[in-house]
Amino acid sequence: MCGIVGYVGPRDCVPILLEGLARLEYRGYDSAGVAVVGRGKLRVRKVKGRVGQLAQDVPARLSGPVGIGHTRWATHGVPSEENAHPHVDGSGRVAVVHNGVIENAEELRAKLTANGVVLVSETDTEVLAHLIAAVDVDDIEEAVRRVLPDIVGTYGIAVVDTRQPDRIVAARNGSPVILGVGDKELFVASDVMALVRHTSQVVHLEDGEVAVLTADGFSTRTLDATVTTRPPTTVDVEDDDYQAEGYGHFMRKEIHDQPTAVERTLRGRLDERFGTAHLGGLNLTPRESREFKRVKILGCGSAHYAGQIGAQLIEELARVPADSEPASEFRYRNPLIDPDTLYVAVSQSGETYDTLATVQEIQRKGGRVLGVVNAVGSSIARQCDGGIYLHAGPEISVTSTKAFTVTTVDFALLALHLARVRDLSPADGQRLVRGLRALPAQIGEILKLEDQIAGLAAEYGTCPNVMFIGRVRGWPVAREGALKLKEVSYVHAEAYPASELKHGPLALISPETPTVAIVPDDELYDKNLTTLGEIKARGGRILALAHRELPAALADHTIVVPRAEPELDPILLGIPLQMLAYHAAVLLGHDVDHPRNLAKSVTVE
Ligand code: F6R
Repeated sequence: MCGIVGYVGPRDCVPILLEGLARLEYRGYDSAGVAVVGRGKLRVRKVKGRVGQLAQDVPARLSGPVGIGHTRWATHGVPSEENAHPHVDGSGRVAVVHNGVIENAEELRAKLTANGVVLVSETDTEVLAHLIAAVDVDDIEEAVRRVLPDIVGTYGIAVVDTRQPDRIVAARNGSPVILGVGDKELFVASDVMALVRHTSQVVHLEDGEVAVLTADGFSTRTLDATVTTRPPTTVDVEDDDYQAEGYGHFMRKEIHDQPTAVERTLRGRLDERFGTAHLGGLNLTPRESREFKRVKILGCGSAHYAGQIGAQLIEELARVPADSEPASEFRYRNPLIDPDTLYVAVSQSGETYDTLATVQEIQRKGGRVLGVVNAVGSSIARQCDGGIYLHAGPEISVTSTKAFTVTTVDFALLALHLARVRDLSPADGQRLVRGLRALPAQIGEILKLEDQIAGLAAEYGTCPNVMFIGRVRGWPVAREGALKLKEVSYVHAEAYPASELKHGPLALISPETPTVAIVPDDELYDKNLTTLGEIKARGGRILALAHRELPAALADHTIVVPRAEPELDPILLGIPLQMLAYHAAVLLGHDVDHPRNLAKSVTVE
């Protein structure tokens, strides 16, 4: 949420900042700005709107060797030029970009105002610029270190000061800050995406650390000035991952990436001979894997729904009670932490604040948390006691597609692993290993249905309301399908367990409100057909996702999805719904990769 980028080195920073901001735009895109230090002056340009508008607005003469930039997702104050970052102190000397939320901003604003400072924005961030500039020392790093202890909340910041025009100071508390180490040039960003074009050598700042970047190198210290040592590590992503290539949108590209992403997540993890999965990062001995009595999965949005599929897989295969709960709810209900429960945190970005805070709360109470995370080296990945990396590759579209699917595959691996140290037979394990191996090709088959699904999108994805239903294995699939449609097409979509329809929501069924029904060929098939009959009897139109064409009397249209092993079916059934949402959004003319009001990686509460 919000993106930060900064550069110090021999080149002109402006094109580097603009290009970096464009790559971070998926994190927030309601306003953008840059601050450039050159020839002893600080010059700032900001716009309400997208980075493209900022690029048009930046005068050709704006250049300099040091600069910081920001793309915003509003938390304090509406999107506007005044509220856009960078924020500057009254004398125009210090500029700050900030991700996160300063919780005591109102109090700090009141103090500044009482001291005669004129605040020009409604943001929490502006206080930082005034407070840092007011510290009576010549060294900007020291000024930053003196101010930060008074800040309550989360921050990732980058600061420039015309009195020390050769440097950027960066600091982190709960919001990612990554340094990129180049050849006689240094970068700072909130996300490696802004860096990989320039360098693969990165340093992840820890909470409570402050860094100074100059063209010659960087140093890091804690807030009490203790020097820390941070050797750079190499990031394992390619610049090509950040191009939408011939797909038009990242969402479509990422949907089509899924066979490769699933293949990658399975690589080296399946053991055909013993019918199990090897997950090196779990840090659990077989004995420990046997000992816990429950599994609790925590994540937000799509990660929570992927967790629900995961919980069903674990309960079904390993016969351990398992459930999934939104991390955003769990953390606020003073949860009981049970030493015999294995907690699993799920996150694509690894930076979702509610999920991170949940992990910390569980650990505070002595619980053990595994992470199922895509972003390597992210805050959640580092906070957890062990875990599984998705290896899905970067997901750029705000709407999650491939990370969702790969998460469900990784839960199948975890379930298989846990099941085989418990009671699952080797033969069943081998059946599931074969089923998992078949998934990439089966996803490839589903992708070939795109034309059919694009045709159906007009009928089922663009009306004012759509109902999604599924039963047991199909229920989280329906929830994720409804979320996808809502997010990108802005169509109201309601997901319900098929079994619950007659307890109320059947009243919504009419010819104007179609139903998307998940109808796998499992032991609940007949029950699902009964529900479809009830909908048809009320004049409802039905699009079914099934393993065989349904009779016209029960479904107006069927998308026939390849059969997986029954436990793995939910992994495949979600994919046509991603395509349905995508094509509905395209038909409605929406900005698919940047849905309104949203941002990827929700790093605020
Ligand atoms: C849905 C979506 C969100 C995220 C949620 C958690 O398409 O993208 O619901 O799934 O914000 O994000 P991560 O997985 O990064 O923790």
